[in-house]
Amino acid sequence: MSGTTTFVIFGASGDLTRRKLIPSLFNLYCKGRLPENWRIVGVSRTPYSDEEFQAQLRAGMQEFEPDKYSPSNWSSFATNVGYYSGDLSKADDFRALDERLKELETENNGAANRIYYLSVAPRLYEMTITNLGESGLAEESEGWRRVVIEKPFGHDLQSAIALNDSVHKVLNESQIYRIDHYLGKETVQNLLVFRFANSLFEPVWNRNYIDHVQITAAEKVDVGHRAGYYDGVGVVRDMVQNHMLQLLSLVAMEPPASFDADALRNEKVKLFESIRHIAPEEIAEHTVRGQYQGYSSASGVEPGSETATYAAIRLYVDNWRWQGVPFYLRSGKALTEKTTEIGIIFKRPPHVMFPLPPGARIRANRLSICVQPEEGIHISFQAKEPDTTADMRTVEMNFDYDSSFGAVSIPEAYERLLLDVLKGDASLFTRGDAIELAWGLVDKILAGWESKGAPPLEIYKPGTWGPGAAETLIEHDGYTWTLGC
Ligand code: BG6
Repeated sequence: MSGTTTFVIFGASGDLTRRKLIPSLFNLYCKGRLPENWRIVGVSRTPYSDEEFQAQLRAGMQEFEPDKYSPSNWSSFATNVGYYSGDLSKADDFRALDERLKELETENNGAANRIYYLSVAPRLYEMTITNLGESGLAEESEGWRRVVIEKPFGHDLQSAIALNDSVHKVLNESQIYRIDHYLGKETVQNLLVFRFANSLFEPVWNRNYIDHVQITAAEKVDVGHRAGYYDGVGVVRDMVQNHMLQLLSLVAMEPPASFDADALRNEKVKLFESIRHIAPEEIAEHTVRGQYQGYSSASGVEPGSETATYAAIRLYVDNWRWQGVPFYLRSGKALTEKTTEIGIIFKRPPHVMFPLPPGARIRANRLSICVQPEEGIHISFQAKEPDTTADMRTVEMNFDYDSSFGAVSIPEAYERLLLDVLKGDASLFTRGDAIELAWGLVDKILAGWESKGAPPLEIYKPGTWGPGAAETLIEHDGYTWTLGC
């Protein structure tokens, strides 16, 4: 392949670059997956020499990915890494950056492709993209230009629309890659294969056989040093608007006709359009909000803050496939354990011919899609206990990566996503219309939480499963929260 591909990382002195972006690019390099002539140029305000920047990245690699660090590979990798000190508010600095990039690009013939990665504070997105446009850096005459935008994309529907508008003044939608790192997780991608490369499950994947769905994204950690950011955001903006709704869309969308980015994203948009909004007068019936004890006195948190660190939400999808099937979502910080899983709970058999103890019921079949930290898929079903007439026990069929694929390591989500940007495959990135639909939905929840009918903010003990009201929410429908991974 001739030509050059340059990753320009804006906000290169930040944490994300050292923790995720560089380790992922380094791993891709070691696996031989980067294009033939590639280069990384970090851009930030702080003045560094190329060598100082490289040393900082090496320290990050050794700290965050020590197992993948190799001194010899690093030395050759680092020769392709440079630094440029510039101010994102100055169009002149962008023009000077363009000159510098062009100098580097003339070392190779052919197309000069560029990925601009916005790893800057969200309030700088608009300015950075406008300046990319004004200084001609988004122009595609010399090669393609792709822009990766981190989350959060907007703070609410209105700001997301405004940001989409500004971005679309400079870039075509096909140049924009809005990252949601959950979509880069191996197990999340496997959900598509599981649903659409098997004929066994799709016929029962609907209201006739599925009783309800539970999606849990629990975290053991508290907000830690991110309190300053988190307090203005809360769990619904931080986890539900993006990661959890993405998981829901992959579980519930219709089969796309092809594995093409837009075919897939059209189905997600249709699904988001079908999710019923929660009216303010029903907010207490369908949602629970909690805050872990000690949060409001953490440094960086406004005293008396009512920011929710836990949410449980009951949603319905108003279409033929899912009419009447509740989708329960819960996510929180400072909970018992870190686990992300999707539980599909099937209906019980319509008639049971086996004698059961008085009051007993057959356990429903459950399919658990284990996103993390245990990755795999479990199916639970009833089996007859040996040497009994018809006593039953719930048993499991399990798929896990180690036993099926050997010791292949599951790549870091950013590795997959960066590779897809390189290939120009936007399937795992969120399209502008989907982002707006997701914000529309969560805006309603947040407005409900600001209204008179808001559910009380329940304080829960760190290390527990969160507010008791979350149990009540689901028990009201005759269920309990369960985990199957
Ligand atoms: C981020 C949120 O998007 O996702 C964090 O901002 C959260 O608050 C994180 O901790 C969870 O990601 P993961 O991959 O650890 O589940």
